[in-house]
Amino acid sequence: KMDRFIDGLMSKMTLHEKIGQLNLCGAGDVYTGPVVRSNIAERIRKGEVGGILSLKGVSYIRSIQEVAVKESRLGIPVIFGKDVIHGYETVFPIPLGVSCSWDLEKIEKSARIAAIEASADGICWTYSPMVDICRDARWGRMSEGSGEDVFLGSRIAEAMVKGYQGDNTYRRKDEVMACVKHFALYGASDAGRDYNTADMSRLRMYNEYMPPYKAAIDAGVGSVMSAFNVVDGIPATGNKWLLTELLRNDWGFDGFVVSDASSVQEMCAHGMGNTQEVAALAVNAGLDMDLGSEAFMRTLEKSVAEGRVSEEQINKACRRILEAKYKLGLFKDPYKYCDVSRPDKEVYIQKHRDFARQLATETFVLMKNENQLLPLKKEGKVALIGPFLNDRKEIQGTWSPSGANEKYTTILEAFRKTVGEKVELLYARGCGFEDGANEEQIQNYLRDKGKGFKWQPGTPEEVDEAVSVAEQSDVIVAFLGEHEMMSGESSSRSKLTLPASQRALLERLLKTGKPVVLVYFMGRPVVMDWETEHVPAILNVWFPGSEAGDAIADVLFGDVNPSGKLTASFPRNVGQIPIHYDELPTGRPLAEGSKFVKFTSAYLDVPNTPLYPFGYGLSYTTYEYSPMTLSADRMTEQGNIQVSVTVKNTGDCDGDEIVQLYIRDLVGSVSRPLKQLKGFQRIHLKKGESKKVTFTLTSELLKFYNSELQYVCEPGDFEVMVGPDSQRVERRRFTLSANN
Ligand code: IFM
Repeated sequence: KMDRFIDGLMSKMTLHEKIGQLNLCGAGDVYTGPVVRSNIAERIRKGEVGGILSLKGVSYIRSIQEVAVKESRLGIPVIFGKDVIHGYETVFPIPLGVSCSWDLEKIEKSARIAAIEASADGICWTYSPMVDICRDARWGRMSEGSGEDVFLGSRIAEAMVKGYQGDNTYRRKDEVMACVKHFALYGASDAGRDYNTADMSRLRMYNEYMPPYKAAIDAGVGSVMSAFNVVDGIPATGNKWLLTELLRNDWGFDGFVVSDASSVQEMCAHGMGNTQEVAALAVNAGLDMDLGSEAFMRTLEKSVAEGRVSEEQINKACRRILEAKYKLGLFKDPYKYCDVSRPDKEVYIQKHRDFARQLATETFVLMKNENQLLPLKKEGKVALIGPFLNDRKEIQGTWSPSGANEKYTTILEAFRKTVGEKVELLYARGCGFEDGANEEQIQNYLRDKGKGFKWQPGTPEEVDEAVSVAEQSDVIVAFLGEHEMMSGESSSRSKLTLPASQRALLERLLKTGKPVVLVYFMGRPVVMDWETEHVPAILNVWFPGSEAGDAIADVLFGDVNPSGKLTASFPRNVGQIPIHYDELPTGRPLAEGSKFVKFTSAYLDVPNTPLYPFGYGLSYTTYEYSPMTLSADRMTEQGNIQVSVTVKNTGDCDGDEIVQLYIRDLVGSVSRPLKQLKGFQRIHLKKGESKKVTFTLTSELLKFYNSELQYVCEPGDFEVMVGPDSQRVERRRFTLSANN
C-alpha cells in the first residue's frame, strides 16, 4: 500500500520537488553550524523543504504544516525534527549520567516520556540516541553518549529506540521517530578534539565501535545521522562503504540517512571537492537528507543534467524520506502531531517530573564517603557553597534546548523545601566557573547567547564571604565542577581538573577544619586525584536535569541511597587517555598491583589503572558477594552455563546494587580483551536481605569479529568474572567445546 501511494505521488513530482524533499532546513532557535537561511514559508510553497529542525511550539509548527499541506503544489507534509536528547521540558540527566543508572527499564521510560512531551509539542522526529563509544574524556560530547562500553552502550541504544518508537509502527500519536547518531566513530576523534579525524582498524571498528549503532538498527530505528569525521579517510557523509555497503547491504537498514549539520558542505573543507562535487558524492554514497547546507538544493539538479548523479539515485533518497513520512502517518493526518490541546496535559507534568527526579538519583555516583559523612543528618547548620545553587539552566547540561528554565526549582529552593525548619541552611556563591582558557571568547559566546556573565571567578570578597559562612556551619557542601558549556559539542578540554578558582575556594573551605562534601557537576570523567586525596566525601551528579535540586537533596539527606556506577573510567591524569577497562593484553603486561617495572607496558610516573574504574560506585550500605557458582564448566555452541552469585546487603539501609558479569576469551585467532562486560543486573536489597543473581552465558555472548570480519565464537577456554565493578571480580574458567 505504501509503495503504491509513493509511486503515485512521485510520478507527479518534478525533479526540483524531489530534491526539495531531501532538504532539511534550519528555521528555528537552536543550531550549531552555519545555516543558509531563507524565507521558510515561501520555500515550502515551492516544494523546496522536506523537513525543518529545531522549532518549538505546537501552534507555530501547526501553522507551518498548514503552509505545506494547503499551499504547496502537492501538499506533502513537512517532517519536524529536534534534538530531544535527554528529555524535552522535563529534562533528564545528561545521557552519560543516565547510563550510570544501568537501569534499562528507566532509560526506556525516559525516552518514552521525551517522546510524549516532544510529540505533544509538534515534534515527530528526534536526533537521538547518540551512541558514540568514547574513551577520551577530553571530548566534550562524551556527555551525550553512554560511556566507554560496547555491551552496555548497545543495550542502552536498544532501550532508547524502543522508548521513542514503541513497537515501530507509529500507530500512537505520542511516539516519535528516532535517529541513531553519529554514524560512525565520532567518539574516537583524535586527541579528543571535536570534529577531528577518527582512524582505526576495521577489527577495532567492528568489535568496539560499531555494535551500538547496529543494535539501534536491529531495534528498528527509523533514521541514521552521518558523522562529521572521516571514516577510512572519507567523510562519513560521503562514504559509500559506510552508508550503503555496511549500513544497508550488510545490516539491512531500510530507513533514511540525514547528514549532520552542514556536513555535506563541510566535505569541501575536508578536501573532497567543490559544493557540487561533494553533494554528488554524498547522494551517490547513500545520504538521503542534507541538514542545513542546502548543497543538495543548490546543485543536484545540475548534477543530474550533467550525468554526475542519476535521477534514480535521487528517486531512492526521495522515496526514503516519503516512506518515513508515510510510516509516521503524516500523509493520513499531517496534523497528527499538532494537537494544540496536548502540551498543557502532557508536557512537564507532575508524573514526568517525579520520574525524572527518581531517575536522576539513580545516576549519581558516590565516589568517596569517609567515615560515612553522607548521608547528612537533618539537623544543625549546613553551609551550601558554590555557583550552581541559584541557577536553573546550568544544572541541566548540554543539549537541553527545549528546557523551560523558568519552571525549574533551584538547588537552594529544593534544599529549603526538603529540610524545612530542621536544618539551618547557610549559603554563599563563593566563586564562578572560570577555567582559565579562552576566557574572552567564551564570555563573548555566552553574551551572544544572552546567558550573561556567570563565568568569572569569584571576587576575593566573595571567597572570604563563603569561608566565613562555612565557618559558622557544622558541615560544608560545596557544589563545584564544570559549567554546562564546558562539555557538549565543540567543548573539548585538554585539562580535566577542577577550574583553578574553584579549587582555590575548595582549599579554603577544607582549611576551616569542618567536614566537606563535594557535589561535583561534570559532563565527562574528570581528573579528581587532588579531590580524592583531600575531600572526605564526593558525589558525582553529572548534570541532573530539571529536577536536579530535589534529586540532590534526596540523596544528600539519605531519603534515597545512591546506586549509580561509572560507565567510563576516570583517569588519574590526562596522559592516561585514551583509557578503558576492556583493553587488549600486551606481550609485556605489568603485573596487577605493580606501579612500574622496566620493559613492561607501563608509565614511569603513573599506574596503568584509572583512579576510578568502569563499573565503580559506592552506596550508603555495603554488599557482600558469595563465591560464584557455575552450572557446568563446559558448554557447546547450542548450550549455556548459568553463572550465579548471592549478594547480601550487609549495611544499615536498603539499597540497589548493580551486579556485573565479564568474560575473557583466553585464546583466540585475534587477541581478545582482558575483560568484557557481558551482563549486568540491578537488584534492590532491603537491609540484611540476600538475593541470588543468575546470568545465562550463551555462545552468542562469546562472539566477536575475527580478522576476516566474520562474527564467530571460537571453541576454547574462557574466564568468567562477577563482581561489583570491573576491578573487584571473582574469576572462574569454562570451556566452549567444538560442536562435533
Ligand atoms: O543532532 C545534532 C548533532 O548531534 C550535532 N549537530 C547538529 C545536529 C542537529 O541539531
